[in-house]
Amino acid sequence: MPDAISVFGLGKLGLPFAVSWATRGFRVIGVDVRPDMLQAVASGKVPDAELPVGSMLARAKTKIKTTTDPGEAVEKSDVSFVIVPTPSNEKGGYSTRCVEEVLEPLGKSIQKKDSFHIVSIVSTVLPGASDTNFRPLLERVSGKTCGRDFGLCYNPEFIALGEVVSGLLNPDFVLIGESDARSGTILSKMYGKFCKNEPPIVRMSLWNAELAKISVNVYVTMKISFANTLAALCERMPGGDVDIVSGAVGLDSRIGTKYLKGGLGYGGPCFPRDNRAFLHIAEKLGNHAKLSRATDEINTDHSLLLAGRILKSLHDVENPQISILGLTYKPNTFVVEESAALNIAKSLVDNGAVVKCYDPTGMEHAKRSLSERIHFAPGVSDCLEGSDFCVVATPWQEFRSLPPSIFLEKMRHPTVLDCWRILDRSRFHAEPKLRYLAVGINDSTPW
Ligand SMILES: NC(=O)c1ccc[n+]([C@@H]2O[C@H](COP(=O)([O-])OP(=O)(O)OC[C@H]3O[C@@H](n4cnc5c(N)ncnc54)[C@H](O)[C@@H]3O)[C@@H](O)[C@H]2O)c1
Repeated sequence: MPDAISVFGLGKLGLPFAVSWATRGFRVIGVDVRPDMLQAVASGKVPDAELPVGSMLARAKTKIKTTTDPGEAVEKSDVSFVIVPTPSNEKGGYSTRCVEEVLEPLGKSIQKKDSFHIVSIVSTVLPGASDTNFRPLLERVSGKTCGRDFGLCYNPEFIALGEVVSGLLNPDFVLIGESDARSGTILSKMYGKFCKNEPPIVRMSLWNAELAKISVNVYVTMKISFANTLAALCERMPGGDVDIVSGAVGLDSRIGTKYLKGGLGYGGPCFPRDNRAFLHIAEKLGNHAKLSRATDEINTDHSLLLAGRILKSLHDVENPQISILGLTYKPNTFVVEESAALNIAKSLVDNGAVVKCYDPTGMEHAKRSLSERIHFAPGVSDCLEGSDFCVVATPWQEFRSLPPSIFLEKMRHPTVLDCWRILDRSRFHAEPKLRYLAVGINDSTPW
């Protein structure tokens, strides 16, 4: 079985991916266009990397090398994994420009290589990209035949940021789209050694694998939008409590409790765009994927409606100031892309409110995408100072233990909206001078 891989793209997914394969005994060559990233990997100190990555890198130092030369990477490995960005394009699909930029030199290197080499695409792409775009490109550049002289696989990962390494090593399943049985068999054997939990390995055509990949995220977003609809209903019902209702609904084994919590909308680098891409490919294939459209609309409306309600509740306050605790799209990541907190903040300032934010890790990234109209506080206390309404938007651990006293002492009008119901509700309700509101709960005065 091959024991040497190359990884093209050492970003949020590619670096943990490369490091994880190295710790599982494979020789790894990392390739990236960012010299700072290659230098960081070589020095063993990678800023922004998720927690275990640094220590794993130190442990696997002898197994992982870096280069800017694709030829060297192909020559010294048996499989090349491509994990470069595929940003959304204006049509709702994914741009494959970076993948193609990798495949050009990769194909040229395959031309010079005598042994069988596998190219495995990990980047998210639309169904059809590998078969109609990548395969012909590689065949043209290498002058060889795909499936006979080299292999092409589509092999996405289903990880969640914040838990990338454990997700890679213990996946629910491994998905392999293959141009030919030989390539699929080689990759399955490698994953058999790589994964710690002996997951099912499912093999299929390239097209089916590409559709399966985005379908997983699309289904999860549908579940989240449903849970948020449930939360909205609970708020309008006497004694309504979304945790009680979704907890019961999720016990049905056909449904399950994961991603059925109700709170804020989904965000991050995958969910929103995968849902839109699904819609795009469905329309291209002559279907309208109405469920995906509704899911997306519910998600967008959720943040806007919440911002509107917050502003309405402050209509009699002069120059209202709103604090937002949490900006990342979920805890344990620095990623703020398309986060609900960010969308709420944007909508509030667009409507003239003064907004101050604090996040344990996402501040620098948020500063790049929020306008200078938003203020950033160095900590919770500063964020709450003089505020009239506080939104606890991301369920970070450090917010869970916040006592009512900090809101009472710092805020001008202490009203707290607990979007994920992480605060100690009974303690907050016990404070007569504090107004505690929670998404999905009807146990207070309507707002
Ligand atoms: N991050 C996730 O949670 C996640 C999950 C599943 C799928 N994906 C998919 O994986 C792909 C990569 O995502 P990411 O979040 O790691 O992106 P990223 O932007 O964090 O990292 C991409 C890396 O690729 C490098 N790169 C760009 N062009 C290159 C080239 N020509 N040669 C070598 N390196 C190059 C960049 O410098 C960067 O370091 C995307 O298609 C994404 O949709 C990501």
